[in-house]
Amino acid sequence: MQIIHVAAECYPAAKVGGLGDVVGALGKYLNLAGHRGCVILPKYQTQYINRNSWKKIFTSTAALGIGDFEYSIYANENQVLGYELFLVDIKGLLDREKVYGYEDDNTRFIAFQTAALDWLVKSEQKPDIINVHDHHAALIPFMMQNVEAFSSLKNIPVVLTIHNGQYQGAMEWNNNVVLPQWDAWKWGLLDWNNYINPLASGIRCAAKVTTVSDGYLHELRYQSNGLEKLFEMEWAKCSGILNGIDTLVWNPETDAALTQKYGARENMHQKSKNKKTLCEQFNLNFDKPLFVFIGRLVGEKAADLLPQSILNSFHKIGRKMNFLVLGSGETEVENDLNYLKLFSENDYNTYIGYNEDLSHLMYAGADFILMPSRVEPCGLNQLYAMRYGTVPVVNNTGGLHDTIIDISEKNGYGIKMNQASENELIFGIFRALELYADPAKFEAIKIQLMQLDFSWDKSINNYIRLYESLTLKN
Ligand code: ADP
Ligand code: GLC
Repeated sequence: MQIIHVAAECYPAAKVGGLGDVVGALGKYLNLAGHRGCVILPKYQTQYINRNSWKKIFTSTAALGIGDFEYSIYANENQVLGYELFLVDIKGLLDREKVYGYEDDNTRFIAFQTAALDWLVKSEQKPDIINVHDHHAALIPFMMQNVEAFSSLKNIPVVLTIHNGQYQGAMEWNNNVVLPQWDAWKWGLLDWNNYINPLASGIRCAAKVTTVSDGYLHELRYQSNGLEKLFEMEWAKCSGILNGIDTLVWNPETDAALTQKYGARENMHQKSKNKKTLCEQFNLNFDKPLFVFIGRLVGEKAADLLPQSILNSFHKIGRKMNFLVLGSGETEVENDLNYLKLFSENDYNTYIGYNEDLSHLMYAGADFILMPSRVEPCGLNQLYAMRYGTVPVVNNTGGLHDTIIDISEKNGYGIKMNQASENELIFGIFRALELYADPAKFEAIKIQLMQLDFSWDKSINNYIRLYESLTLKN
């Protein structure tokens, strides 16, 4: 089968969070499984895109409601990625440094989707399946069915994968002029609560809808930022497929970002050399257990709980542990985390920003990773952490619910909080310290964690089965 993924992020070309990791891995692991997995991504001005060479393979014009625009398609010249990556270049719209965060994001992503479909219409080969990801690509199934220029793609089944249902791309109806000319009788397939809602439209028009964990799918039915009724109506075509991790990239035995590589069996004790590097770099006390947080500093991740919880855990439990936070996001949280440095007694530090290498070193050097998330559709951090022998302390929600078993249960290996609150987080830290105080148990759990299999080798088969169920029908 040929499967084309269309998304706003794809590691290593453009990554803001887990969406990028997952889309890149899907392309790669479909090829490893004997299929042709490709990805279509905007040609941003990211470091990776600028530094690598791309071959221009197609140039044309397509119509947006507001007029024609020119676009070009570029392809990767070497085989390093393990999948074909196609970049859509639209001058003035997509060729920017950041992936998101511009006032004209709606227009940018509509133009991206339009160009991608226009190219597929004009190219000879048609894919067997198109898998679109999140709201930035979710207008594609509507466009394939209701824009006359794209009617030759009508019969290709589309899967919509939802990584985050909170963001839906909703826009005022006057934006409909930006869409390529569509069958106005079908306005109801775009509308949700008097807005054009790309995610809602994708849920209606796609052949199948997947979410990145089963737990999250069930949560969406009751809490999906206004789409609850829609999920109820379309429930029969929805399923949860848990993400995997790319164990070729995330492997402590080969990871170039580590001070010291290590494996579960051979030199597990060497893991602590990575902690030593971190402690030296960030002025932390090596003899204390190290808790880290890595991620977007936003409400979904409950990052706002961190400053007060860290401070109060020192008051309530004592200065028995270190904290190191890596992330960027809401200014207030960034400021509070920076301010907290004033109170550090060699036991707290933070790095505000995005740093891929540092994140790898932190997964390896930490004893525990904190994920108090309010919403976590899957979560990759806990999976990476476990692969590096770091114990997760997580809120019991979405993908965290599905991937972590509490140490109080049979064969448990993580610590679960009952809700995203300061008290629960401090209690989680307290329980982690109890575990740390029992070295035999702690070591055994670290080894158990490193041997768990959350790889794509396993998860990719669930996608393939879903694609096959759609192609066999046709
Ligand atoms: P989300 O996609 O909601 O942000 P995930 O847990 O799925 O959450 O994935 C987050 C990904 O982004 C992980 O690969 C994580 O290591 C990475 N990441 C998040 N913030 C940073 C940061 N500040 N620096 C480096 N990597 C980061
Ligand atoms: C989203 C979710 C995260 C998930 C990631 C990859 O960004 O917030 O939980 O792991 O997508 O699917």
